[in-house]
Amino acid sequence: MNFFETEKPIGVFDSGIGGLTVVKRLLSTLPNENIVYFGDTARVPYGSKSNETVIEYSLQDAQFLINKNVKLIVVACNTASSVAIPALREKFKVPIIEMIGVGSQAAVKASGNGKIGIIGTRATINNQAYSRAITKINDAIKVYESACPLFVPFAEEGWIDHPATKLVAKEYLSSLKEAGIDTLVLGCTHYPILANTIQEVVGDNVRLIDSGVAAADQVKKEIERMAIGARSSVPGNLDFYVSDLPQKFSEIAELFLGRKISNVHRIDPEVLQTILH
Ligand code: DGL
Repeated sequence: MNFFETEKPIGVFDSGIGGLTVVKRLLSTLPNENIVYFGDTARVPYGSKSNETVIEYSLQDAQFLINKNVKLIVVACNTASSVAIPALREKFKVPIIEMIGVGSQAAVKASGNGKIGIIGTRATINNQAYSRAITKINDAIKVYESACPLFVPFAEEGWIDHPATKLVAKEYLSSLKEAGIDTLVLGCTHYPILANTIQEVVGDNVRLIDSGVAAADQVKKEIERMAIGARSSVPGNLDFYVSDLPQKFSEIAELFLGRKISNVHRIDPEVLQTILH
């Protein structure tokens, strides 16, 4: 592998800002990699859209990253991961890392009693993406799912320890708690932000799985296997692109990424509509 190939960026896309929780994990696992992030902030949320629309948008998002010359794509959005992976793998030749498979593997490994809870957007839960992936690994495992759509705006508001978040969490999570789960997959980019409240509600004996951690480990394995890891010994560059105004993205990015960002560029969503070739 020549030097030029190894220094190509890793591309990450999400429906909006939530994918920064995955970038945060990538930065701690692979600090010297260059990263290009695309957040489709003009067309978020994906979690309440049809599979056809999410597939179409995901193909456009990935094409945008391919045009940035990325060496690998991380589909940080769980909703996109739950429906668009076959279409993405058919169209693009670069390795594609998604959230469902890696999160499911981590959950199966963590569970002692074989009862796993999944929370995600309506689309992720309706597609039963996690339960299918878990059953494929071990069909004796019982999976309990709950869509938690209100967690997304709460996280974006920064309502991390807010009483309203706790109230809603109790409502969403009570059936999973009653089912006796010992492992809970945070199957949406935003949920790691609310992990403390979620943990408080489900209790300390339930292990939370952050699919972003599992995805970062998988990216590391993949780039080592393909010998395409950055050779540089200095922190990589981070470039951010969004399809709506960059200002709001920059303002709340710190909550999701754990650091301030400034270099956010805007892509006109009309450009995305015609990007595929
Ligand atoms: N990024 C989405 C996910 O992980 C959450 C936000 C949305 O609905 O687009 O499923």
